[in-house]
Amino acid sequence: MTFGHQNHLIMNWSNQITHLLGIAYPIVQAPMFGVTTPEMVAAASRTGALGSLALGDLPYAQCLEAIRATRTLTDAPFAVNIFVNSIPEISKSLKKQYADARSFIETLARQHQLEVSLPEFEAIQLTDYREQVHAILESKCHIVSFTFGNLDRESIGLLKENGSILIGTCTSVEEAQALEAAGIDIICVQGFEAGGHRGSFIAHPIPRIGGLSLLSQVYEQVHKPLIYAGGIYNANTLLATKQLGAAGFQVGSLLLGSKESALLDFEKNRLAQVGESDIVLTRSFSGRYARGIKNAFIEALDNSPYILPYPYQNKLTNTLRKVAKANRNVDFVSIWAGQSIHPYQNSSTEAILKALIQQVEFVAD
Ligand SMILES: Cc1cc2nc3c(=O)[nH]c(=O)nc-3n(C[C@H](O)[C@H](O)[C@H](O)COP(=O)(O)O)c2cc1C
Repeated sequence: MTFGHQNHLIMNWSNQITHLLGIAYPIVQAPMFGVTTPEMVAAASRTGALGSLALGDLPYAQCLEAIRATRTLTDAPFAVNIFVNSIPEISKSLKKQYADARSFIETLARQHQLEVSLPEFEAIQLTDYREQVHAILESKCHIVSFTFGNLDRESIGLLKENGSILIGTCTSVEEAQALEAAGIDIICVQGFEAGGHRGSFIAHPIPRIGGLSLLSQVYEQVHKPLIYAGGIYNANTLLATKQLGAAGFQVGSLLLGSKESALLDFEKNRLAQVGESDIVLTRSFSGRYARGIKNAFIEALDNSPYILPYPYQNKLTNTLRKVAKANRNVDFVSIWAGQSIHPYQNSSTEAILKALIQQVEFVAD
């Protein structure tokens, strides 16, 4: 199937986002920690979109290494993305909760023929996102996106002195306003449909506002350029968000099956069979809400008292997920995915993004 004609400018893609970020198309390959690879970022950049390197909560040295590896594959600009999360205080009761959760999860895994030894509380190492900011400064990256919170004033100052464009994630109007007030340049509006973790950082319980309502309200009340993320998988969904005020379009789940995705074949096969009722919002793996495919682990944990606050739950289940992945055990891995279920193509990132661009040009004609 062909869409439109190349070299025939049917849709004008050029806007505030393309100018600020120095890209041809205002399409953003979503940062997906655990799924995004340097190859995916480079492929997105080759297409003329914005690649995003997910650094998650990697420590300083690993951030430097991931950025260096990506730079060997592309000269184009790409975003680096970090988890901006404050670390809850350690208390006696937290340690006790951790020990109980650890023993519950090890027993649960054993009941499913998975032998794991999870780390003791004292063995876990947490990353302060400010060390990641220093890795980013040292690597001279000029596009920085983040989720789970807002950067502190000092980090914003340092990154701006470095000439960086900052992209913060919101899941409510209030969060968008907080990012705008802090001087963040671009706001990524994450709809409830989105795969992966919710970026929520102000309201408790987390906002559950749908993307349509949220984007429209943020557009009315905030004056920064907006990128929309959540449920975009084809021309119609992309153009619908353009109509509501988005100037940038972030796609995550669309690329889960791609050649450059770090998901293994057994995970891609599970995705290919997923149904509407399999996609759930869960705190079970990390302590933060994330959207993904339901499995035995999620069902057991969500009905238990054994979920610690982020990042402790995340650290606790890290080894479990690694062992499950190595054993191709679909019941103990986290496969994050959004609500827009579609045929998860296994072609290259470049081919998937090019097809999206051509389809938009054809539909918009
Ligand atoms: C597997 C996966 C991992 C994700 N990891 C991150 C991440 O590291 N940082 C981030 O800002 N967003 C992350 N997200 C959220 C995406 O940036 C984006 O909001 C979401 O993919 C958009 O919805 P969609 O999946 O329907 O396209 C992740 C999403 C998925 C599916």
